[in-house]
Amino acid sequence: MNRDVIIACDFPNRETTLAFLDRFQGGRKPFVKIGMELFYGAGPEIVREIKARGHRIFLDLKLHDIPNTVKKAMQVLSALDVDMVNVHAAGTVAMMKAAVEGLTRADGTRPLLIAVTQLTSTSEEALHGELLIGPSMNETIEKYASNAREAGLDGVVCSPLEAGLVKAACGKDFLTVTPGIRFADAAADDQVRITTPARAREIGSDYIVVGRPITAAPDPVAAYERCLKEFV
Ligand code: C5P
Repeated sequence: MNRDVIIACDFPNRETTLAFLDRFQGGRKPFVKIGMELFYGAGPEIVREIKARGHRIFLDLKLHDIPNTVKKAMQVLSALDVDMVNVHAAGTVAMMKAAVEGLTRADGTRPLLIAVTQLTSTSEEALHGELLIGPSMNETIEKYASNAREAGLDGVVCSPLEAGLVKAACGKDFLTVTPGIRFADAAADDQVRITTPARAREIGSDYIVVGRPITAAPDPVAAYERCLKEFV
């Protein structure tokens, strides 16, 4: 298993992002996550630029649409040569299968494809009262992860505290990509279901996604290295 730390580059523009990545020149090139804010603000060119600098990229756009639209969009993202992309499992098995088809290049290769089961911002109360989903959060996560596996996806995004549940339902090779990571001696910020890099490793995360504990640290390179030391 190739455990790795993914830095969430939640910056508003190209300049801030590249200035941040400049700090890592000379050492290990971090795997980075580009989310909606940066992608919609800076456009696909930022992906090419970061890729050209030698970073692996998780493009976190969480696609959710009809199967044909997702397939076509995935063809475009695959051509951008990213390493990992995602969809909402709520889009159904048919949509996830279409995503795999769209992502797969002529030579048979494709980026890793993972699914969001339930957003960690969705409460059990909202799940039942607003979304009218009867089963519990854990049952829903287990079912959505199984659907993703059935569709041929590589894994799911989930809370590190749910990684064990997903591995038990879908097998140890099914990837768990987990945000919600904080150092033992740090503030939680707005995250609720959090754990440390070391504990995430014990529970079974394959990739931890770390934003502010690295991006807002006085020494981001040292914070990144601390994550690597605890997790990888
Ligand atoms: O700064 P922090 O470490 O909390 O950043 C976590 C990153 O992971 C952010 O980019 C956030 O949007 C993302 N994320 C999350 N929880 C999810 C899915 C994505 O925190 N369920």
